[in-house]
Amino acid sequence: MSRNFPSDFLWGSATASYQIEGAAAEGGRTPSIWDTYSHTPGRTLNGDTGDVADDHYHRWQDDFALMTQLGLQAYRFSISWSRVQPGGAGPVNPEGIAFYRGLVDALIEAGIQPVVTLYHWDLPQELEDAGGWPNRATAYAFADYARLVARELGDKVTVWTTLNEPWCAAYLGYASGVHAPGRTEPAAALAAVHHLNLGHGLAAKAIREELGEQAQVSITLNLHVTRADDPSSSADRDAVRRIDAVGNRIFLGPLLGEGYPADLVADVAHVSDFSFVQDGDEELIAQRLDVLGVNYYSTSRVRAFDGDGEPEQADGHGDSAATPWVGSEGTVEFLQQPGPYTAMGWNIEPQGLYDLLMSLSASYPSMPMMMTENGAAFPDVVSDDGAVHDHDRISYLHDHIDAVGQAKDDGADVRGYFVWSLMDNFEWSFGYERRFGVIRVDYDTLERTIKDSGWWYASLIESGQLPSADPLADAVAPGR
Ligand code: FCB
Repeated sequence: MSRNFPSDFLWGSATASYQIEGAAAEGGRTPSIWDTYSHTPGRTLNGDTGDVADDHYHRWQDDFALMTQLGLQAYRFSISWSRVQPGGAGPVNPEGIAFYRGLVDALIEAGIQPVVTLYHWDLPQELEDAGGWPNRATAYAFADYARLVARELGDKVTVWTTLNEPWCAAYLGYASGVHAPGRTEPAAALAAVHHLNLGHGLAAKAIREELGEQAQVSITLNLHVTRADDPSSSADRDAVRRIDAVGNRIFLGPLLGEGYPADLVADVAHVSDFSFVQDGDEELIAQRLDVLGVNYYSTSRVRAFDGDGEPEQADGHGDSAATPWVGSEGTVEFLQQPGPYTAMGWNIEPQGLYDLLMSLSASYPSMPMMMTENGAAFPDVVSDDGAVHDHDRISYLHDHIDAVGQAKDDGADVRGYFVWSLMDNFEWSFGYERRFGVIRVDYDTLERTIKDSGWWYASLIESGQLPSADPLADAVAPGR
């Protein structure tokens, strides 16, 4: 029996500005931390940068046509802060905002709902020069930018996602340094978390001041599904608790009105005294959330580190001598998960997605959720017929969408699903080598080809029924 989804379940795909746009120095755009970082030798695989990326800035109409071909009902994209507000301060850049306005108008006209992310990691370099996210002023600058975009696009856009994965922005950017700006300062990373949270609250407030209470505000988190290596060991269970605190509850707590968890503050006391939290901040952060964005890729397994040798760090978040798990250095080790794996080395475990949605639903029963990212990188091959028969990706998507459907049937209020990604793109430190798209991009010619997974996804959207993942099934009709 194939699984059915209700007709109001929203099907979309997602991208992010720096990963697809290119045109890095055009239309008045100034550099972001990702321009600086990717241009720093040794930071990205093969020295890849987002200078050209998918050249979406110039080819967006072609990409929009592909979205209509897939039958997308929604498109989640992010706005480049330094394109619409060069330097991160001052008035709107008319050329920058015109680009997004054109896209939004076209989407609305085609009946594709635009879901805007305001911040997907590309902080204007000037704001980093002034201290970046560890600096409180950045939160206020972000709210100012959010207000400006709301004013410009608020007649068309109803759902506003403030931040994408603040965990990555704070900890990969400021603790382990495998993302821009590449700093390895654990205390600064905790301050960055707080200022991202605060920036979210201030931005949500600014958006509603501009657009009224009907403006829908969300935030997208990458919550960590962490298993204890030995569930019967209280030390391993405590390792899970620590990772849950510094990885998940440090965001969920303040966002959902519960403040920062006391166990977290105790765990990281040797790193920071949390004095960056000022009176009233927690109330500011806890603005009404209309929907919680959930990104999910894989799970991790931890155990209490016994102090013997070097702790294993197979957390899937890049190679760095510095850990992103602030406060847990020397306490928790991340063990290699059993496979199968994607090309990122991430283990494939759809059950983790089911467990995550069910646990969120148990903790926050009245909070609607949206799967804002899920997908997989695989080493795609172009066949002689020009098609990409990416059955490994189809199978990954099938099993994860099935898990979403099961969670929904079991009571989780999940409203939609966005596949990561619409097309192959600049995968941060991994450059162009890791391909997540349901559309292939040939980086020599920039030509786009819908992969079998794209056709498979189109048939799911059209029917609302989960097609078989079997390569021989009729659902996959390449080139139709
Ligand atoms: C997420 C990011 C997204 C993409 C996927 C693979 O963490 O939000 O930009 O890189 O991972």
